[in-house]
Amino acid sequence: MHSLSNLAIIILAAGKGTRMKSAQPKVLHGFAGRPMLGHILAATEALKPSRTVVITGFGAEAVEAYCSANFKGIEFARQTEQKGTGHAVQMCAPLLADHSGPIVILYGDVMLTMRPDVLPALLESHAQNAQGLTLMGATVQNPQALGRMFVENDTVRIVEDKDCTPAQRHITTANPGIYAIHGPLLWPLAGALKPNNAQAELYLTDIVEAAHAHASVKLIEVPSERAEMGINSRTELAAMDALWQTRKREALMAQGVTLVGPETCFFSHDTHIGADSTVGPHVVCGVGVDIASGVTVLPFTHLEGCSIGTGGRIGPYARLRPGTILAEDAHIGNFVELKNTTFGKGSKANHLSYVGDATVGERCNLGAITITANYNHFTGQKFATQIGDHVSTGALTTLVAPLTLGDDVYIGAGSVIRKNVADKSLA
Ligand code: UD1
Ligand code: MG
Repeated sequence: MHSLSNLAIIILAAGKGTRMKSAQPKVLHGFAGRPMLGHILAATEALKPSRTVVITGFGAEAVEAYCSANFKGIEFARQTEQKGTGHAVQMCAPLLADHSGPIVILYGDVMLTMRPDVLPALLESHAQNAQGLTLMGATVQNPQALGRMFVENDTVRIVEDKDCTPAQRHITTANPGIYAIHGPLLWPLAGALKPNNAQAELYLTDIVEAAHAHASVKLIEVPSERAEMGINSRTELAAMDALWQTRKREALMAQGVTLVGPETCFFSHDTHIGADSTVGPHVVCGVGVDIASGVTVLPFTHLEGCSIGTGGRIGPYARLRPGTILAEDAHIGNFVELKNTTFGKGSKANHLSYVGDATVGERCNLGAITITANYNHFTGQKFATQIGDHVSTGALTTLVAPLTLGDDVYIGAGSVIRKNVADKSLA
C-alpha cells in the first residue's frame, strides 16, 4: 500500500462525450456491468483517499446521483461550461485550495487507471517526489488522437494531437492523464493556464511544462494498450470491453476455471467463479454472479444476481435472474427461468419452467413446464410460493401463488394448484 496520507482525488467527468452521440453523459457509459466512472471510483476508493471530488457538467444530476448511490463520501464541483481539462480542475479550487497533501488528478474516460498496478505505482513514485509533480506516460502502438509526451531540454512536455508537428506525431509515448501533484503546487499552476492552442481551451497538460520552474517533475512510463488510454466513441468503448473481457477470462482460467470457447463468454466486474468449475460457450454473467467450485454451466446460459452452490449443473439455455440462490447439486435445465428463488440441495428443474418469488426445499423435482403464477397483472402484486422438501410436480403444473406445498407432496400432471397442500399428500 502507498505511504501517502491525506490524499485527495480529482476526477474529470464534466464532458459531454460528443463522439459517443448519446443523450447520456460519456462517463456513465460502461462495460463489465459498471459505468466507466464506477471503474475509476472503485480503483481510487482502494487508495483510501481523504477527499474525492468529481467534476460534473454535462448530465451533472445523473452523474452525481450515480456516484452518491454507489460510493461513499464523494464531493462534486460543477463545471457549467466545458472549457477544457485545465478549466475543469480550476472548478475544484474552492474545495481543495487548502489541501496540503498530494492530489491525484484523473480523467473519467481513461481505463488504464483501473489496472491494479497503475495507481499504486504512481503513489509509490510520488512518495519520493512529494513536493513535486509525478505523472505517467504510456507507450502505445497507435497513439493517434492522444496527447504526445516527450522530454526536451530536461523538460517534460505534452502536446495535443491537434497541436503536434508532423515529427511529434511519430512519438509513441502518450499521455494517459494520470497525475499526482503536491496540493499547494497545483492552484497557482492551474490559475496561470492560457488557451493558446488549436481548441482554444485551457489544457491541464500545460501545467506539466510550467511545473518545472517551481518543482521537480517525475515521469514514470508504463506500457499500455490503446483501448485503456481513453474512451471517446462507442468503438473505443467496445475495444475496452474486449480488452477487459480478455483479461478477466485469463484471470479466471489462471484461478482454475475451465472456459470452453473463452472468447464467447462474458463476465462482469464482480463475477466470482470457484476452481474446477466449467463454463461452456456463449455464457453471459451479468452483475452479482457468484459460482462455487465444481459447477458446470452449459452453453447459452444467462446469469445475473445469483449464486450457484458446489456441484450445480445449469443450462444449456437457462436463465437465472436476480435473487436466485441455488444450494449444492442443483440442476437447472434448458429453458428454465428462476427469479428471486431459493432452491434447495439436490433439487431439479430440468425443462421449460418458470419459478419466481419461491422457496424450493431439498431433493425436489419440478417436472417439465412447472410454473409459479406469481403475478397479478390487474393489481401489480407479486406473491410467494413455498415448496417443502422432496416434492415432485408432474408435467404442466401451474402453482398459483400465494401457495404452500408441504414436504413429500406429489402433484399430478396437468394440475392447476390454487390451495395449499399438506405434507405427504397427492394433489
Ligand atoms: C485528454 C488529454 C490528452 C490525453 C487524453 C487521454 C488534455 C488537454 N488532453 O484528451 O493529452 O492523451 O485525454 O485520454 O488534457 N473534461 C471535463 N471538462 C472539460 C473537458 C474535459 O471534465 O472541459 C473531462 C471529460 O469528461 C473526460 C476527461 O476530462 O472525462 C478528458 O477529456 P477529453 O475531452 O476526453 O480529452 P481528450 O481529448 O481525450
Ligand atoms: Mg478522452
